[in-house]
Amino acid sequence: QADLKSALLEINKEAAKFYYYQLRQKTGEQGMAYLKGRELSDETINKFGLGYSGKFSNNLYRYLKGKNYSDELLRQSGLFNVDEKRGMYDKFWNRVIYPIMDVNNRVIGFGGRVMGDAKPKYLNSPVTKIFDKSRNLYGLNMARSSRKKNLIICEGYMDVISMHQAGFNNAVASLGTALTSQQASLLKRYTDEVLIIYDSDEAGVKAALRAIPMLKTAGLSTKVINLRPYKDPDEFIKNMGKEAFQERLDHGMNSFMFELKALEGQYDMEDPQGRTDFFKETAKRLLRFEDEIERSSYIKTIAGTYQVEPEELRKMVNRLAMKGV
Ligand code: GTP
Ligand code: MN
Ligand code: MN
Ligand code: MN
Ligand code: MN
Repeated sequence: QADLKSALLEINKEAAKFYYYQLRQKTGEQGMAYLKGRELSDETINKFGLGYSGKFSNNLYRYLKGKNYSDELLRQSGLFNVDEKRGMYDKFWNRVIYPIMDVNNRVIGFGGRVMGDAKPKYLNSPVTKIFDKSRNLYGLNMARSSRKKNLIICEGYMDVISMHQAGFNNAVASLGTALTSQQASLLKRYTDEVLIIYDSDEAGVKAALRAIPMLKTAGLSTKVINLRPYKDPDEFIKNMGKEAFQERLDHGMNSFMFELKALEGQYDMEDPQGRTDFFKETAKRLLRFEDEIERSSYIKTIAGTYQVEPEELRKMVNRLAMKGV
């Protein structure tokens, strides 16, 4: 088992080198142009070990066969598709390649992006004996030593890379999956505070609402960053620059207030009954704060935000608390 793992790590390392080299060859021109078009500097491209997989679907296979790896081992690497007719062929071709590293800088998998609008936009390594995407975070190998007071969690490869390039080297990504409890615990090893900066579409808001309790359970304090009107950190930085981005990071929304804002959307706040129902649900949620001072300061903030008398809200909470006893 240990032998298998080290063989798979070795294959991934070889593959990363192959892709890296391809990008910097004549054959990789298109890939390089794509990355430059996304405003990545040479330094950034090198730092993240970005690569290119070549036009044909057997380049990597031939390269690794040349190094005498067995088909069975190559199959287990997740880097190849197996097909009755075609045999084994590269999973990634005609894509720019993002190697995924674990916290110890070992290549454990890859992401590959098409250079245009084709689908699927990204391919990722499947789960293998060395890669479980629910237990890793892209960019954490670098972000862990950023010396910033928090870590930033975002959705995508390009978001992490753009943020690092702009100096926000504490950014990591959960790579399309909903944040898992294992990832939350992993974050907790390196920080006490997480800034959630997911895409500002509906999916991103949903993902943030799922991530908040997960992070809280892991013992992390959490704020949510608003990127509107831009879609994701990469686009924000491109359009507004790093100072404006820093400004957004400095004004994260308290995660409980973020949850309430999402809740508000479910009620008709113009209607007295709708408002009452919203405050009832809010009061119920306020009960979760056992600390009197914390609860009371939320009541004040909510009163200010939603134009309600703090005393009314306090009474509502107390009535619920009595019922619970
Ligand atoms: P760019 O268009 O390159 O800026 O990508 P993005 O990161 O903004 O993409 P998006 O917000 O759509 O997705 C966020 C992350 O989800 C990506 O970085 C990928 O890790 C993952 N993802 C996106 N599209 C796909 C897909 O088609 N398949 C898979 N498996 N993952 C995807
Ligand atoms: Mn998205
Ligand atoms: Mn993007
Ligand atoms: Mn995005
Ligand atoms: Mn300010």
